[in-house]
Amino acid sequence: MVDISAKGARRVVVLGTGGTISGRARSADDNLGYTAGEVGVADLLAGIDAPAGVELEAEQVAQVDSKDMSFAIWQALARRCAHWLARDDVAGIVITHGTDTLEETAFFLHSVLAPAKPVVLTCAMRPASALAPDGPQNVRDAVAVAATPGARGVVVVCAGTVHGAADVQKVHTYRLDAFASGDAGPIGYVEEGALRRLRPWSDADDAAPTLFDKAMAAVDCPRVEILLSHAEARGSLVDALREERRRGAADAVRGIVLAATGNGTLHHTLEAAALRAQADGIAVLRATRCVEGRILPRPGERLRDAGALTPVKARIALMLELLA
Ligand code: SIN
Repeated sequence: MVDISAKGARRVVVLGTGGTISGRARSADDNLGYTAGEVGVADLLAGIDAPAGVELEAEQVAQVDSKDMSFAIWQALARRCAHWLARDDVAGIVITHGTDTLEETAFFLHSVLAPAKPVVLTCAMRPASALAPDGPQNVRDAVAVAATPGARGVVVVCAGTVHGAADVQKVHTYRLDAFASGDAGPIGYVEEGALRRLRPWSDADDAAPTLFDKAMAAVDCPRVEILLSHAEARGSLVDALREERRRGAADAVRGIVLAATGNGTLHHTLEAAALRAQADGIAVLRATRCVEGRILPRPGERLRDAGALTPVKARIALMLELLA
């Protein structure tokens, strides 16, 4: 037992939110027909050896399939992170999470916390009941990163790779190594419990404390929808959202992210509708639907672009902007 009050002793807090990592199937060879979010986070830590001098503490914040992630859970998670990060004896936080919206939660926490200590999200592509679950190794690696002196910021650890929250994206439906960092590349790798860092941790963001206060005070998040531009795209969905707003619907849309083709281009019909929406006071942002690259500004663009943010991250950025 580690005396955490002793000088140098540190605690890593593991917050559980559900996902495949805590999923259970009827049989050990079933990697698909499982229910996510069944095993408690304390049980996920059974058999995990913490690095020397580090004590693990488990807290269940939610227990969901991450496809059903909500703003309320993000708020609860951000509050618990802020609580634990403020304690001197806490070196860092690990969050167990489903893979499906992991990049969204990571980006939300990155935006509102920008922590000076590490907040490490981890996951699994095979349920806890599988013959060879990947969760235990991912948790071990995540704890190693959270306990690494000097580590900071929100990162994702999966299959031995450390990704930054701003860059990470789920890119595979089945492989254990399901995440990538696009052009930026990973922050580093975890090898035999040690971090091999390739590039700097992300910088602290001065806007984070203000965004944290606004996000925690919000009863609901502003509604921001994502619409895809594609061959034969139409503007009718945009017009339907405008009409809902015109009628004064309680949860009317306040923002639209357009998942644009290539360098932020839009089908002309969708673009015309988006300009009508913008003229009505709806915030419109273009994000590229390409897996890699960023939107490079072109002269004369009338709709703002989200740079390198994917559509799901642009949605969070716009939602936080509308809160602020
Ligand atoms: C989930 O995202 O909760 C289910 C899928 C997964 O974790 O891989």
